[in-house]
Amino acid sequence: MRHLLDTTDLTLDEIDEMISLAVDIIENGDKYAEACKRKKLATLFFEPSTRTRLSFEAAMLELGGSVLGFSEAASSSATKGESVSDTVRIVSNYADIIAMRHPLEGAAQVASAKSLIPVINAGDGGHAHPTQTLTDLLTIFREKGRLENLTVGLCGDLKFGRTVHSLIKAMSRYKKVRFVLISPKELSVPEYIISDVLKPSGCEYKEVTSIEDVMPELDILYMTRIQRERFYSQEEYLRHKDAFILNKEKLHNANEDLTIMHPLPRVNEISTDIDSDPRAKYFEQALNGKYIRMALILTLLKWKDSEPAETSKMITINGYECTNPHCISNHENLPQVSKVTDNRGTFRCIYCETRTK
Ligand code: CP
Repeated sequence: MRHLLDTTDLTLDEIDEMISLAVDIIENGDKYAEACKRKKLATLFFEPSTRTRLSFEAAMLELGGSVLGFSEAASSSATKGESVSDTVRIVSNYADIIAMRHPLEGAAQVASAKSLIPVINAGDGGHAHPTQTLTDLLTIFREKGRLENLTVGLCGDLKFGRTVHSLIKAMSRYKKVRFVLISPKELSVPEYIISDVLKPSGCEYKEVTSIEDVMPELDILYMTRIQRERFYSQEEYLRHKDAFILNKEKLHNANEDLTIMHPLPRVNEISTDIDSDPRAKYFEQALNGKYIRMALILTLLKWKDSEPAETSKMITINGYECTNPHCISNHENLPQVSKVTDNRGTFRCIYCETRTK
């Protein structure tokens, strides 16, 4: 059985096949109208969502299947203290596939270990959001006709923005992709993204604090929200909340064929007068989310009996405690497990990928 915890669970060929399937669904929707007849999707959302949950539900309904689930932790037995492991073990008796969002990092990994059916990570804290990344890849492919040879600017909260982490992991696997990382210094990408993803990939990248100077270089501008819910204090959030606001003035030296993306929701980081600019593609991006999730549901159900791809070596470390306060291993009673993630023998928490000493 295969799960989707991060885009690294998929080979590039599998991602390309999924994009091709999504394009076929867009062009020949009727062909898929009964593809998931009698199949059920459980949407377990312990954290709020508009696009991800509703596009998953719309995807399953358009495939002829049905949906069940909850949209907030408060309406589940999590409020009585039930663990993610037990919740998922139970729900996997009632459905054929699970899409789960949870505020704790590594929650999807825990769910996949207990589930009897495929689990899709619909966002786990600040860690990863692979179905947003598949959405982003489909959008870039439809807009540019390729996923290689692109300069991608990522702007905003690159520290807590899980969509950014997942997108860098995915795009760095394509040839000649260059990243421009635009953020305040305090909100730059986590160290492991640089050391484990960007440096080994050989991709060119630079970190800057101003958007104006780099605008002419960009093929893609991926704006992100400052993630208020992930800050350790309100004061820290207020200091950064208006760090980047994209408006017409800032686009004055942008390419004519720039593609402006945003995973949404937006707060104020893209002025609404940009919405009518033909380069703004964030609403199309949200629609693409439904098509790629249709392709993902079909693919994971097809793979139900296949083995997972080879993962990195697992090593149990007794007495190890993850230092990340948002890691699920610090909230639920779980074995502390670390894994080797690179050739230098770096150990990382199996749940949230925080480096282990
Ligand atoms: N992009 C995204 O994940 O949106 P939601 O939080 O509304 O699902």
